[in-house]
Amino acid sequence: MKSADRLDGIELSLIRQINALATPLSVNLGIGEPNVVPDERLREMARRAATLPWQYSANAGTAALRKKLCDGTPYDPKSEVCVTAGTQEGLFSIFTAFVNPGDEVLIPDPGFLSYATLAKMCGATAVRYTLEPPDWHIDVDALEKKITPKTKLIIVNTPSNPLGAVADRATLARIAATGRLVVSDEVYREIWYDAPPASMLGLGDNVLTLSGLSKSHAMTGLRLGWIHGREALMKPVITAHQYVATCASVFSQALAEMILDDRAWNEAWLASVRAQFAQQREAAMYAIQHELEVQIAPPEGAFYAFTPVPACESIAFAKTLATDAAVLVIPGVAFGPQGQGFVRISFAAPVELITSGIERMGRWLRTQGR
Ligand SMILES: Cc1ncc(COP(=O)(O)O)c(C=O)c1O
Repeated sequence: MKSADRLDGIELSLIRQINALATPLSVNLGIGEPNVVPDERLREMARRAATLPWQYSANAGTAALRKKLCDGTPYDPKSEVCVTAGTQEGLFSIFTAFVNPGDEVLIPDPGFLSYATLAKMCGATAVRYTLEPPDWHIDVDALEKKITPKTKLIIVNTPSNPLGAVADRATLARIAATGRLVVSDEVYREIWYDAPPASMLGLGDNVLTLSGLSKSHAMTGLRLGWIHGREALMKPVITAHQYVATCASVFSQALAEMILDDRAWNEAWLASVRAQFAQQREAAMYAIQHELEVQIAPPEGAFYAFTPVPACESIAFAKTLATDAAVLVIPGVAFGPQGQGFVRISFAAPVELITSGIERMGRWLRTQGR
């Protein structure tokens, strides 16, 4: 049976392909999920959430969680927020709601690989705006030059996967001022180092902002995200979401509500998650500098180090490294052509593994004469 045309050319992502090469002896620096263990309070909240009713919630989420998500924002909990089955489902619902065949979608290069795939599935063209090393910041003048009458939406991701770069408020305000529909993926917003990242929340009636608990609370498998935006934008998004997911898991919604309700615990939790990642970032930066002999700007958010590797094709490099040196990293081109010559090293791993994985990488590179 031939699959639908919208799936033509869409394969299992390179991230999954590299992770499939893992063996019990591999050091996995390819993974995109936090190595954070729930504390007793979080487990206790989960146990309590499991005792609550299991019936569907309203499509856009429970009234109580929507209210919590809108506290301190300019959005109306009744009509301007939608709880989703993770940020990924949020992206899918937004693309389904707005993107037509023939449209153009502006996406970052390098950028999270779902954006280009979702554009393709909608019959649209992904048009990449280039981010440049070493700081990988968004050049808004260059981005504006890529806007055409066909541009339907502009995707911004801050802090960025795979770069760890953070966009400042002035940059975000200028992108909002283009007047196009802007989708700001802020799923890594709580994972930051020196200063909290700016957000696009409230930056314009043309802006949709996405976030969730996958990264901040190590809840990747519980699928809990949300979208904020003005009612006129949210109406079609909530309609699409209804036919994709009906509603997000009510267990995860109840847990999210408890997490946001216990402000003192949540602030302490987020501070401890940041402290853990700060230590892991330091170990990664030290090993990259000393073992790989390259200097990169420390990422400002998220838990990825986008690292140049000596002249080689990055897919072949990552695959050979996985099989010969048992270290998993993601080839930079998985995130767009601009990623050629780089690999994404995830430092969401214990310090010993970060250090030994990067050491193994350095040793393997030296045996190859690079
Ligand atoms: C930039 C970015 N957006 C969205 C997602 C999807 O996250 P979620 O688990 O909330 O669906 C990821 C996951 O890695 C990501 O890196």
